[in-house]
Amino acid sequence: PTPDAWRRVDRYLTETLVGHDPVLESAVADQNAAGLPAIEVAPVGGKFLHLLARIAGARRILEVGTLGGYSTIWLARALPADGQVVSIEAEPANARVARANLRRAQVDERVEVHEGRAADVLPTLEGGEPFDLVFIDADKESNTIYLDWAARLGREGTVVVVDNVGRAGEVANPATMESHVIGTQRGLEMLARDHRFDATALQTLDAKGWDGVALAVVVEAGPARHT
Ligand code: DHB
Ligand code: MG
Repeated sequence: PTPDAWRRVDRYLTETLVGHDPVLESAVADQNAAGLPAIEVAPVGGKFLHLLARIAGARRILEVGTLGGYSTIWLARALPADGQVVSIEAEPANARVARANLRRAQVDERVEVHEGRAADVLPTLEGGEPFDLVFIDADKESNTIYLDWAARLGREGTVVVVDNVGRAGEVANPATMESHVIGTQRGLEMLARDHRFDATALQTLDAKGWDGVALAVVVEAGPARHT
């Protein structure tokens, strides 16, 4: 196989299993036109999230990092009629693009976009019904903070997904100086060590290149027990 045969495979899998959806494709086009970075999940990744939410029977989904709402649409479409996505976005310009994309996708009534730093917004969500699925896809430096909130705002059985845990192989470099990689490593170490989670991770090779996704289940919800 040629070195980039995986690109053909990604196109093949995307064409075969995901296909085309004008609303999702417009969301990406408008996000690009607005100058947002093209760092949304790949189509196969979006559908993967969608299926996880359906398998989990998720009614309440928390997303940290809305960007232009591409993954948000995939997640919202997995919900039953009374379900809800709460999505947090720090960048007002991104939230504006996302709201328009969510409206066009006709999922805006099922999605609440909270503008602000997730570390500030997450504590305001305490006291609500627990989230059934949490998707963490924001500034990697804060992954441990977001995982802590996933356990606090979840319940036993909550599904937790962390994006971008491969970073083109850099995650396995113990001497990395890149803050986003260090944040990713700390998040993975927390998933391993923290009594509230059980987790694994898979490398991914898709339209977004070589990366990875971590999958965890909350085995004990609430704040960390200090023993
Ligand atoms: C970056 C962030 C992401 O969430 C992603 O999926 C890809 C890249 C980034 O910050 O570079
Ligand atoms: Mg990401």
